[in-house]
Amino acid sequence: MTLMEQARAVAKKSHSPYSHYAVGAAVRWEDETVTVGTNVENASYGLTQCAERSAVTAGVSAGLRKIIKVAIWVDDEKPATPCGACRQVLHEFSSEQGVLVQVGNPQDVIEYSLADLLPKAF
Ligand code: THU
Repeated sequence: MTLMEQARAVAKKSHSPYSHYAVGAAVRWEDETVTVGTNVENASYGLTQCAERSAVTAGVSAGLRKIIKVAIWVDDEKPATPCGACRQVLHEFSSEQGVLVQVGNPQDVIEYSLADLLPKAF
């Protein structure tokens, strides 16, 4: 399965009864390990966790630290680029070569560098 196919598969596990917007993310780490995550909403809306941060947290919990690529899937006409908070979290674990961000939906897969999405990162 491609990284995007893994993101698409995990989006099916989304807990998004409030937004009805299921997101899947798959992160490839420097040692080629892949971790996946989905968005997890809550009745207290502000507690929502994005798919990207779920996938990053899974990898960090497995001892991984360097991300080379992330694929983000939504079944929507507009692909979802990561929110600002997720861009900053991805930056925290960027590999030396940077992070390639792939956003996909049923129509397209578009690629960005994290440096383009988060210029002048803290
Ligand atoms: N969401 C993500 O999981 N990742 C993004 O990049 C954008 C937004 C989630 C949060 C919430 O559960 C739903 O999408 C609608 O905002």
